[in-house]
Formats: sequence, C-alpha cells, structure tokens
Amino acid sequence: MKTILGFMLLILALPALAQAPAGNAQAGRDKTSMCEGCHGIPDYKTAYPHVYRVPMIEGQQALYIVNALQEYRSGARSHPSMRAIARGLSDQDMADLAAYYSTLHQ
Ligand code: HEC
Repeated sequence: MKTILGFMLLILALPALAQAPAGNAQAGRDKTSMCEGCHGIPDYKTAYPHVYRVPMIEGQQALYIVNALQEYRSGARSHPSMRAIARGLSDQDMADLAAYYSTLHQ
C-alpha cells in the first residue's frame, strides 16, 4: 500500500519537476547588462583566450539560448568566459534572458 502511494505521489510530482521555469522577457531585459558588453556589439571579437567572433543571440530561439547556457554551465560547452557567466545564472535567469533575446530582431 505504501509503495503504491509513493508511486502515485511520484507521478503527481513529475510534471512539476520536468517543467522549466517560464521566461519573462521584461525581467530578462533587466539582466542583459552582463551580456551586452560582448553580445551587444556587432562584429565584436573577444581577445581572450582566442580571437572569437561573438555569436549573435538576438532573434535566436528561446529554447536554443537556454540549452546553450545550460551547456556552458554544465561544461558540455567549454568556452571559458561563457562558462563563468553561465555558472552565475539560475534557471530562471536563463529563461528570462532567452525570452528577451528571442523577441529581438537581428
Ligand atoms: C566576455 C564576453 C561575453 C559575455 C559577457 C557574454 N558572452 Fe555569450 N558568448 C561569448 C562568446 C565569445 C561566445 C561563443 C563561445 C563559443 O564559441 O562557444 C558566446 C556564446 C553565447 C551563446 C551561444 C550562442 C550560439 O550561437 O551557440 C549564448 C546563448 C550566449 N553566449 C548568451 C550570453 C548571455 C545570455 C550573456 C549574459 C548573461 C552572455 N552570453 C555574456 C561572449 C560573451
């Protein structure tokens, strides 16, 4: 009986666990100050550690942005600056930033 109850509770809790936070574009806009230095300048190249073209993230799909940020945070993507930045972002920050950037036109 206890096992069945636990199982039912798990089923009920699953959708909540699987659900990513909803992004709020307005809140995201207030969080872009730490991104604009690099992503806000057309054709800007970072000097460290290599000379990279900074990708355009404006108008990118929200899901793509969130996935990319999570990959930097987990280390699946290895760019040092983006990893450092992504480590400081919560899931909510990522969802908000993605919501904001996805509404911009290139
Ligand atoms: C120090 C400069 C710098 C800052 C600040 C910065 N980025 Fe980046 N970002 C880069 C570079 C360079 C890349 C490409 C790295 C690579 O090759 O993986 C990148 C890649 C990305 C990507 C992946 C784009 C793609 O096309 O795959 C996303 C999404 C992103 N940044 C979002 C952000 C957000 C959101 C912020 C602010 C919280 C931010 N970045 C701050 C330099 C920066």
